[in-house]
Amino acid sequence: MTLTKEEVEQLAQLGTPAYYYDLPLLEQTLDAAKTAAEKRNFHVHYALKANFNERLLSLIQSKGFGADCVSGNEVQKSIDLGFAPDKITFAGVGKADKEILTALRHDIFAFNVESIEELEVINSLAGEVGVKANVSLRINPNVDAHTHHYITTGLDENKFGVPNSELEIAASILRKCENLTLVGLHFHIGSQIVDLNVFKSLCVKVNEWKNWFEERGTTIKVLNVGGGLGIDYHNPDTNAIPDFEAYFEIFDKFLERTPKQEVHFELGRALVAQCGTLLSRVLFTKSGIKKNFLILDAGMTELMRPALYQAFHKIERVGDVEGAESLNYDVVGPICESSDCFGKEVLLPKSKRGDLIAIRSAGAYGEVMASKYNLREEIRYLYK
Ligand code: LLP
Repeated sequence: MTLTKEEVEQLAQLGTPAYYYDLPLLEQTLDAAKTAAEKRNFHVHYALKANFNERLLSLIQSKGFGADCVSGNEVQKSIDLGFAPDKITFAGVGKADKEILTALRHDIFAFNVESIEELEVINSLAGEVGVKANVSLRINPNVDAHTHHYITTGLDENKFGVPNSELEIAASILRKCENLTLVGLHFHIGSQIVDLNVFKSLCVKVNEWKNWFEERGTTIKVLNVGGGLGIDYHNPDTNAIPDFEAYFEIFDKFLERTPKQEVHFELGRALVAQCGTLLSRVLFTKSGIKKNFLILDAGMTELMRPALYQAFHKIERVGDVEGAESLNYDVVGPICESSDCFGKEVLLPKSKRGDLIAIRSAGAYGEVMASKYNLREEIRYLYK
């Protein structure tokens, strides 16, 4: 990637490590998603968990997206930043009473409910507040997302959703919960899904479960198919904007629905990943017995994905590197953990102390997963 002269100067003032956000790219990505979704009358809620940076959120809100939240604080933040309450959903396998109350008081669109006990608690809290709450039942469809096992969520062994064996009971309990209205069914099978056939399999399951409920006389207004669309971590420049057309087309084609039934999506990564880059400087270089190391001032505390999931992020030298000799480096951070490594055997121009390194596609699940481990400094920001 390249930075302008002004950006390099700003960065020199600011210091590193810093998250760099390309807001024009974010806008293009949002527009592409919006166009493809609106064409089919689909509703997209942005999954705040991917990145709740206010500059990004404000842009996302201004484009008319809804908000998919997983905590009371995310619900509150969405409200504070102007997301319409009737476009806010609250998901999550463990919602605290306090968080449920926050969402009830803001009269959000719906709770995505993950257990029978949770249905009963929301029903009783809604009664105390004197409101009626919309709920969608999260069903675990047992579809393999073929992604990293830490980010697969839709298999029988995963903790998410009401187990299929309990749906009959859930449906009958719902009929008795006078403070709840069942508006929809919710599914989410995992993240960083790049094989679109997986979504085809999801549609088959959604159709089955929708029919199951309708056969029992329950009207389903909303089919919420979750998020999960992956991005191209290897080609952040040539493939910066995901193929939203192809993605939404799968659902348009394979999801059975009446014109009255709404289809909702909860996209996180696909919207924000490519606009973010972690910028870092080389602190030291070192030639070990077997390896060359580039030791950066950024570590797993700023971007945890490589350490946690062995996730690939493209690593580049920033600046003029024309004709430079290349070397294979293990690119590591300063944190006292061997897993604090951004990439092994990465071919880079021969580098020295002070050189600038870019770790790409870091806009999703990057700064939000940062930690204070080793009492690290606050993250710095640079915006395009
Ligand atoms: N809806 C639900 C219920 C979810 O659990 C998630 C993500 C999403 C929507 C948004 O999924 P996306 O469109 O971003 O794939 N930290 C991991 C990813 C965890 C995803 C958690 N759930 C990573 O860095 O890869």
